[in-house]
Amino acid sequence: MELGLLWLLLCCGFAHGRAWLRFYLSSWAVRVPSGAEEAQCLARRHGLLFLGQVIEGEPYYHLQHRGIAQQSLSQHRGWYVHLKREPCVHWFEQQTLKRRVKRSIPVVPTDPWFQKQWYMNNDMVPDLNVLSAWSQGYTGMGVVVSILDDGIEKDHPDLVANYDPLASYDFNDHDPDPQPRYNAWDENRHGTRCAGEVAATANNDVCGAGIAYRAKIGGVRMLDGPVTDIVEAQSLSLYPQHIDIYSASWGPEDDGRTVDGPGTLAKEAFLKGIVNGRRGLGSLFVWASGNGGLRYDNCNCDGYTNSIYTLSVGSTTESGRVPWYSEACASTLTTTYSSGNKDEEQIVTTDLRHTCTDKHTGTSASAPLAAGMIALALEANPALSWRDMQHLVVRASKPAHLQADDWSMNGVGRKVSHHYGYGLLDAGDLVDLAKKWATTRPQRKCSIRVVYKPLVIGSRLAISKNVTTCPGKKRSIYSLEHVQVQLTLSYSRRGDLAISLTSPLGTKSTLVALRPYDTSKEGYKDWSFMSTHYWDEDPQGVWTLLLENKGDAYNTGLLSSFVLKLYGTDEDMMARQAVSSVSKCVRRNTDGTCQECTSPFYAFQSLCLSYCPPRYYSQLSLDPDGATRVIRACAACHSSCYTCQGGTESNCTACSPLSAYDALTRTCSHLAYSYQQRGGSLNQGPHTHLLLIVVLLLCVGPILFVLLYMAYGWLSLGGENRCWKLANSCAKSGIASLELVHLNPTSTKESLKEPSQKSFP
Ligand SMILES: *[C@@H]1O[C@H](CO)[C@@H](O)[C@H](O)[C@H]1NC(C)=O
Repeated sequence: MELGLLWLLLCCGFAHGRAWLRFYLSSWAVRVPSGAEEAQCLARRHGLLFLGQVIEGEPYYHLQHRGIAQQSLSQHRGWYVHLKREPCVHWFEQQTLKRRVKRSIPVVPTDPWFQKQWYMNNDMVPDLNVLSAWSQGYTGMGVVVSILDDGIEKDHPDLVANYDPLASYDFNDHDPDPQPRYNAWDENRHGTRCAGEVAATANNDVCGAGIAYRAKIGGVRMLDGPVTDIVEAQSLSLYPQHIDIYSASWGPEDDGRTVDGPGTLAKEAFLKGIVNGRRGLGSLFVWASGNGGLRYDNCNCDGYTNSIYTLSVGSTTESGRVPWYSEACASTLTTTYSSGNKDEEQIVTTDLRHTCTDKHTGTSASAPLAAGMIALALEANPALSWRDMQHLVVRASKPAHLQADDWSMNGVGRKVSHHYGYGLLDAGDLVDLAKKWATTRPQRKCSIRVVYKPLVIGSRLAISKNVTTCPGKKRSIYSLEHVQVQLTLSYSRRGDLAISLTSPLGTKSTLVALRPYDTSKEGYKDWSFMSTHYWDEDPQGVWTLLLENKGDAYNTGLLSSFVLKLYGTDEDMMARQAVSSVSKCVRRNTDGTCQECTSPFYAFQSLCLSYCPPRYYSQLSLDPDGATRVIRACAACHSSCYTCQGGTESNCTACSPLSAYDALTRTCSHLAYSYQQRGGSLNQGPHTHLLLIVVLLLCVGPILFVLLYMAYGWLSLGGENRCWKLANSCAKSGIASLELVHLNPTSTKESLKEPSQKSFP
């Protein structure tokens, strides 16, 4: 297991193709002044293919070996030594894969509909600033996104190249094929439209480009049939070690009178995804905030967008206004563009039956745009946890020109609105921040029961609580993330009751506003309202909950329970921003793994982090070379621990939700109670093992190959006599010039270049 994890880490480095990695190819450029014949002999002697002259009239030749792994992270020592010993070879270089990024001019796709993609083609300012992320080379490579919806047209010419069957399933028909069901009015086009926004292929003469146009895209068909807790849970927990981002544009009915959320299984699926998904970094659930605007619905009455585990996305129109369908609530984190009034442009994407559309609308269109931008950030930094990503989105969202009547400044100086969260998401800023982000310290949770005995609500009820320390916890929260208010109350007309919460720093957020269509007499039963508006604030001081009757004077009710739930970290997140940018790796392995970072950062895979992620602990060791320097690295916990202070099974400090912690022995033991036993089929174990085996084969295979070929190369050094004579004559002429001539890489790499830019009207 330990070994498997190591290989996994190693291979992740490969898969993500990070900028500093050098990929060596099985090609050499050699300079042989004595001519082509000599170079041919040389090639034969060393078992290399002679692929001719590189530049006409110049003695540079292209040699290739078919046997060596196509791409390797280290230079090939064997051939380096052979070529170095050749007197006729005055210069040589093993070719590396060049990551070609245009610096000033962004890479503008040539797709015919790209000119219609007003929200990302720089037609308007500010747009989603996707060109800036692309120009840094981030296109979603190595990231897997799945659209949970009514299916995906996997053979659509603009999706087929990025389609990933391993990120797809059909839970409506119980088979692996998510192809939509076709009918005359194309009822099931929604998923295909959302998929194109994320990952429509660029530069292929079809439709436009997806935001993460090199990401892998899958689809889960789950909305075209009876939706049950089981179907939702299965969809949300599909292949959590393979799928990075789940994009969902659905929820309970947006009729302005429903209060509904995930059931037992879906809740557990969220939790399992957060704790175990992406090898412990947490699955990313991107959610559309809802289309109930006309019915004065509030997305805080939707338990999916309202969940702390989903990253909830709102919409704005081309002109920066609140769209008619938009729902306002405190749990919305960020905003992207979508449709508006008739005279405003809509979203351009792939459509059913191999076509394109410029008529994708609603909040459904906003979430996939955000999912695509998050995929770019994940390519820039694959070690981001689910909470890191929310921190980054808060920081990369800007009020810009977005119009709303409720923009206000929170306690740490950020503008926030119930319509837009922190504002319009900026892909350029998101990848910039992602690259230098140091992992957020573990999540701390603080639950404070404020109301013990029932209180009459009447027309107005204000309850204040001075929060000083967290009851029963040694370390408290310094910087907030999510805040939840869990209420149980009865009320004669639920929709008439407006509820708000004010933080010690004076930030007031509306937990639910007047909902005229909600005539229910049921009240709220242990409902958790969530707000993102206090992000990074210090929670110490007086919190005030306000319940207000906005309707009939005869309304009455009883508040029987109020629990304030604070989430955050024990770090001052506002102070760290200045420091986090100086982390640097000072020593690397040949495979790109960082061995040592600048103090006080910890080496983790290819990165330098200020804290180690879950399942790893901060290990201090002395420099093996005898110096007295302390080296900081993240070392793996025992597989039974979630967090730990050492590598053995008795060093656990916390366990995953399905195991129990024994404080005395500091161990975690698996609980008998688990998901599988409730009849679900959500166990991901076999998939994880399968993935491990595949990865092992992929990694070990090439290494064995290389070893075999090296052995072969050394055994077959003999060559023809004529060639030896030529070589001797070279030795006599001496090594006249050993100059280093740099080849123009573009001349040998036509196929690796970005497709050429045609016209961009
Ligand atoms: C809250 O409690 C702390 C510690 O007991 C105290 O110092 C502070 O003055 C209190 N704040 C208010 C507004 O009562």
